Amino acid sequence: MTCFTCCFRPRSSFPTKQTVEINAEISSVQNAKLYSYKELQIATENFSPANKIGEGGFGSVYKGRLNNGTLMAIKVLSAQSEQGVREFLSEIVAISGLEHENLVKLYGCCTERDQRILVYGYLENNSLARTLLGGRNSNLQFSWKIRTKICIGVARGLAFLHEEVEPHIVHRDIKASNILLDKDFTPKISDFGLAKLFPETITHVSTRVAGTFGYLAPEYAIRGKLTRKADIYSFGVLLLEIVSGRPNKNKRLSAEEQNLLEMAWTLYEKGKLVQLVDNVLDGDFDTDEASRYLKVGLLCTQELPKNRPSMSTVAKMLKGEASVDEWAISKPGLLTDIMTLKSSSSAPHATSSATSKTQDKSSSSESTNTSHATMTFSSIYDRS
Ligand SMILES: Nc1ncnc2c1ncn2[C@@H]1O[C@H](COP(=O)(O)OP(=O)(O)OP(=O)(O)O)[C@@H](O)[C@H]1O
Ligand SMILES: [Mg+2]
Repeated sequence: MTCFTCCFRPRSSFPTKQTVEINAEISSVQNAKLYSYKELQIATENFSPANKIGEGGFGSVYKGRLNNGTLMAIKVLSAQSEQGVREFLSEIVAISGLEHENLVKLYGCCTERDQRILVYGYLENNSLARTLLGGRNSNLQFSWKIRTKICIGVARGLAFLHEEVEPHIVHRDIKASNILLDKDFTPKISDFGLAKLFPETITHVSTRVAGTFGYLAPEYAIRGKLTRKADIYSFGVLLLEIVSGRPNKNKRLSAEEQNLLEMAWTLYEKGKLVQLVDNVLDGDFDTDEASRYLKVGLLCTQELPKNRPSMSTVAKMLKGEASVDEWAISKPGLLTDIMTLKSSSSAPHATSSATSKTQDKSSSSESTNTSHATMTFSSIYDRS
């Protein structure tokens, strides 16, 4: 077993053979860097709460300024990985080698003192969850043009991960809080590949589960069947959120309006899909284009994975380079429908199979949250 304390001393101390090898491996890959703990401590003013910019299921995120003046987002992973340093680093090398305009840049990491810290490029305009969907917490204005730019950018980033990277990467956690925006509102997908850094026995804490629930493709949540189509489903939900300016679930609305996907389908059947477009835009949008975007959202969330278009096709549809109308749109797959069906037929398939796989890591999530939690844990288990 690797000894982190002796293998990852500050660089000033005598390096072991393994440290030298790993450092060489890291430095041989463009832009992958090993940061010293001291360097990150200074950058974040000793991980001061004042510099904390967020907290997710994987740990806390701090804003930090490196010696050279560059701003970084420094993510301190909370779960102690049982994965060896070498495996952890080789994943970092693989992920940080990926460059795309619509992916957050991973600069490197720090593994000193048993830490698992990731260093990303800092994005000025925060996440879609905090801004577009964050209610009055943000002053940013999202015009129709900006929304189309964000949708197309995310589609391109996902198409890159799905179709251009070899072996392809399934993100598994596409959602509004994982879409960050730079100063020009260029969207950047974050946390791609993060799943790969965790061994299957490590799970997220339960707080993140509810947020993820609305984005889970039914076949993935229920049967753990993970393909690129699960990401495409999540993207469809996100697309509807961006166009409508509301989260996929809003319990403050009337029962018929609470679930965004259900509402989209009802309006589609009535031929009134465009009514879903965010009222904030006050009619200032291209109706045909908005209708096309919403149809793409419905297509991406079709119940049968084979009826969802690939991400490159989605990107073309959004840009108006491929037709949406050639595709048959039927009712989207809704987890709530399937869960109701399952429970009425007294076959709690989803929860029992998931919990047994995950060695019941979900004990902290109780009662109503249990099914959500176990589904997410099933998803984590499925990460390879
Ligand atoms: N590179 C970054 N630049 C700027 N802010 C960031 C960056 N990365 C993360 N953040 C901020 O930190 C918050 C927490 O991010 P984090 O990824 O840890 O959690 P999350 O996305 O909310 O949930 P999850 O753990 O499921 O991904 C984000 O919502 C965002 O506000
Ligand atoms: Mg995240």
